[in-house]
Amino acid sequence: MTATKGLEGIVATTSSISSIIDGVLTYRGIDIDDLAENASFEEVAYLLWYGSLPTKSELDQLRRQLSDSAAIPDSVVQQIKLYPKNTNTMAALRTAISSLALYDAEAGDMSREANLRKAIRLQAQLPTVVAAFARIREGKEPIAPKADVSISYNFLYMLTGKEPEAIAVEALDKALVLHADHELNASTFAARVTVATLSDIYSGVTSAIGALKGPLHGGANEAVMAMLEEVGGVNNVEAYISEKLANKEKIMGFGHRVYKNGDPRAKHLQKMSHELGKITNNMSWYDMSIKIEDMVTGQKGLKPNVDFYSASVYTSLEIPRDLFTPIFAISRVSGWTAHILEQYENNRLIRPRAEYTGPVNQKYVPIENR
Ligand code: ACO
Repeated sequence: MTATKGLEGIVATTSSISSIIDGVLTYRGIDIDDLAENASFEEVAYLLWYGSLPTKSELDQLRRQLSDSAAIPDSVVQQIKLYPKNTNTMAALRTAISSLALYDAEAGDMSREANLRKAIRLQAQLPTVVAAFARIREGKEPIAPKADVSISYNFLYMLTGKEPEAIAVEALDKALVLHADHELNASTFAARVTVATLSDIYSGVTSAIGALKGPLHGGANEAVMAMLEEVGGVNNVEAYISEKLANKEKIMGFGHRVYKNGDPRAKHLQKMSHELGKITNNMSWYDMSIKIEDMVTGQKGLKPNVDFYSASVYTSLEIPRDLFTPIFAISRVSGWTAHILEQYENNRLIRPRAEYTGPVNQKYVPIENR
């Protein structure tokens, strides 16, 4: 038995949800470029769960279901109020989503219908949890979700208490479309491993949030913003990046396990970053990002991934840096739950083997002889 470190190149399951073939990402066979230009996030969530784009009445029904289940139980709000003040946002999200299961009467119902209803509730409630936590830690009361508006609109509204600008809603919605699913990424794999034991959907999503938190996965968008803030201005890019590259340090937001010729999602976020920079009259994040890209691509051949331009997009929307990864989760929960449903449909326990590298032929040594 020889281990393949990081399972690189290992095909661990079949899936009909999303594909990455020759650098092209599709959801249910539809190119992400097409969806990014034309689809709403709710249409994409429907596509991931049900396998095809919704008709107008199916979409209206899903929007109603999402709207009806967006509020979170008061007990969960009260728990969030008890979290320590400096709690990490992803740790807060992981804990709050896990505790939602305690208040869901269908938590233990493993039928497909109940799991689909839970997937919709999780999608509806995750943005409410993130916005509630963001306000509570600032000593503010959470804002109840609005009825009959999109997830993107509602999230920005619940975060700020203000009616968001159309351009902000459009930009966030596009970012959610682009992050919704990505084949067998680390957090989706974590979700599938968890539910392959026939554990419940909340456990699967909680595992996924834990996996997304890491800086090599969803946490990279926050690390990109931390870097841009540290750089401070376009004139400092050259010295900063040269030093990092000379020290063989990783530049966050570059490289990808699967895409070696560029992440197809990055160009949409780059375009958005440019537009938002112009609208907000602050091109500095975009200008720094472009210069960093020129240097890293030029010198290392590494292309930006989905996280690189997300950072300047969310900053232009005045979203605090430590909410970037939770926003990734707001989108990706659609993909996680679609994969969980698919795993249940054709389940087999996921239990690989390890290549043993420890000592052999050892004997038990009595404690007084050690
Ligand atoms: N900056 C500098 N060098 C890099 C970077 C980077 N961002 N990414 C890869 N490299 C280099 C590595 O140092 C390595 O060089 P070496 O062969 O001289 O040792 C080579 O490129 C191959 O990189 P690996 O880390 O082995 O590639 P792997 O497939 O394991 O990693 C990963 C992919 C984790 C995404 C990596 O590129 C990385 O750490 N990037 C920065 C973090 C990041 O942006 N993560 C977000 C990924 S997208 C997402 O999860 C949504």
